[in-house]
Amino acid sequence: MNDQFVAPVLPQSDPPPVVSDQWLDELADGLTENGWMSQDVACRLGAGLLSGLRNEVQILDRTEALRGAGVGRGADLLRDRSVRRDKIAWLQGMTPVQAELFEFFDAVRLGLNQRLFLGLRRFEAHYATYHQGDFYRRHVDSFKGRASRVVSLVLYLNEDWEEADGGALQVYNRESENEICGIVVPEQGRMALFMSEEVPHEVLPANRTRYSIACWFRCDEVPLAL
Ligand code: OGA
Ligand code: MN
Repeated sequence: MNDQFVAPVLPQSDPPPVVSDQWLDELADGLTENGWMSQDVACRLGAGLLSGLRNEVQILDRTEALRGAGVGRGADLLRDRSVRRDKIAWLQGMTPVQAELFEFFDAVRLGLNQRLFLGLRRFEAHYATYHQGDFYRRHVDSFKGRASRVVSLVLYLNEDWEEADGGALQVYNRESENEICGIVVPEQGRMALFMSEEVPHEVLPANRTRYSIACWFRCDEVPLAL
């Protein structure tokens, strides 16, 4: 009889997102020194979570659950296709992958509060799809004095993105806003983090469908429904 030991087959599951104190220090330093930073976080989030999120946005895209994004707020909200052409769907944190991602976002929120005293109380996040030719002209994510969106985080979900695919995030110097100070190629697992009021940025036209999640850490409360 063959009595060789057979190792039990364990269910395959990704470990939870890894957020270390040292990594949070790096994020806080990047925001303090330059107002922005970009980093590959695939190893922290895990391949399973990233591909799960990408599957969700691809399904939303195919089922036309994404809506043309607006510019401005409330009654000022405009769907101006000369400014931005992406389509979005807000995340609710209700699916397993969204819940896992929300844990990660909340750990970043708390870590930045502990280090930079930003008073971030909550976050909001949406999926975005840029189809071929779509762009988002230069803008900032929040207007000074509104004290709403404080820190922006964009996570990219595109496998094998080449420079020729376009769609890069172009970041401008917060002191001299005609100077480009960084280009982020939207490869899966890459993240951009920046101060929402300070750092002008733009999404260059994409030459193939581009998927991402944009998250804003805010210092206001959820408005009460009337
Ligand atoms: C935005 C934005 C950047 C990106 O949604 O406000 O600037 O690279 N996104 O998708
Ligand atoms: Mn933006």
